Amino acid sequence: MGRSSRDKRDIYYRQAKEEGWRARSAFKLLQLDEEYNLFEGVTRAVDLCAAPGSWSQVLSRKLRAKEGKKEDVKIVAVDLQAMAPLPGVTQIQGDITKLSTAEEIIKHFEGQSADLVVCDGAPDVTGLHDVDEYIQAQLLLAALNITTHVLKTGGTFVAKIFRGKDVTLLYSQLRIFFSRVTCAKPRSSRNSSIEAFVVCRNYSPPEGYVPNMSNPLLDHSYDVDFNQLEGPNRIIVPFLACGDLSAFDSDRTYPLQLDSGKEYTYTPPTQPPIHPPYEQACFMRKNNLLAKEDAPAASLDRSLSAMQLSASEDQEPPTSDDQGGCPGTSVTEPTTPTDK
Ligand SMILES: C[S@@+](CC[C@H](N)C(=O)[O-])C[C@H]1O[C@@H](n2cnc3c(N)ncnc32)[C@H](O)[C@@H]1O
Repeated sequence: MGRSSRDKRDIYYRQAKEEGWRARSAFKLLQLDEEYNLFEGVTRAVDLCAAPGSWSQVLSRKLRAKEGKKEDVKIVAVDLQAMAPLPGVTQIQGDITKLSTAEEIIKHFEGQSADLVVCDGAPDVTGLHDVDEYIQAQLLLAALNITTHVLKTGGTFVAKIFRGKDVTLLYSQLRIFFSRVTCAKPRSSRNSSIEAFVVCRNYSPPEGYVPNMSNPLLDHSYDVDFNQLEGPNRIIVPFLACGDLSAFDSDRTYPLQLDSGKEYTYTPPTQPPIHPPYEQACFMRKNNLLAKEDAPAASLDRSLSAMQLSASEDQEPPTSDDQGGCPGTSVTEPTTPTDK
């Protein structure tokens, strides 16, 4: 393929090189700014997931271009990858889902708040859409968590989002912190991509909300951090033990209640499952069709069936008492991890 073929195919790729941007993504932020006037009044900004640095370039050029503003401007850029230096941009190499990175960003602001936080973070896509959307959502929540520590009240947060089927949950979470949340797709973002950008205006956390490092970060310790949260920082829903407390304990084993001299009569399940997943295995066991270790399998069909059986045995079919399993199949009752 010739060197110019991508230049022909992708106008933004070509233009980025001609205008000196490190990546075509620069046009996404520029086009979002055209629509939302993102940089008005902004002197302090954070660029999360910034490498190779085209968004930081846009921030640097736009914020520092204002007359007499160069010294006031503070831009902090963070990425897992190292990034070549840029004028007026402080760089941190780190993972935005880690507590230590969040703390380092906050340290750079020395008690002052940022006017704008942007995040163009993207995981290495696996091609498994559900997994990719989930990881992207986790990245966005990590970015939101850092934002709650550094953004000033009234500030703006812009982040890449994958518009998958669960995206409304993310919008609702963002709406807790911002009074205006919109989703935008710049022209430079390909239509074939589910990528879009949430533009969240007017940061206004719930009254009494105290930013904390434990919420969506992936390395938190549940008991130590989370259980200490109070008030609007932790919603506790009522937990109620129902029923007569003198009733049978479902975790205990009770002896069969037999009148003396009487034998126990087994009561079959009221409605056994119609087509349980272990049906074929039960049929084969009853009809002696299972492959035996000392006898070679009669056909490919039979050995395949034997494999299916061993898989279903691994999953421990329910006891005949619980689910109407096949009679004569001896199964141990599954134990919960806490039993061990
Ligand atoms: C699409 S690129 C960003 C492009 C950048 N906005 C630009 O204009 O040059 C996505 C970046 O997210 C970064 N990233 C992904 N997960 C991250 C994480 N957990 N912490 C920090 N950076 C991350 C990647 O290293 C990658 O550089």
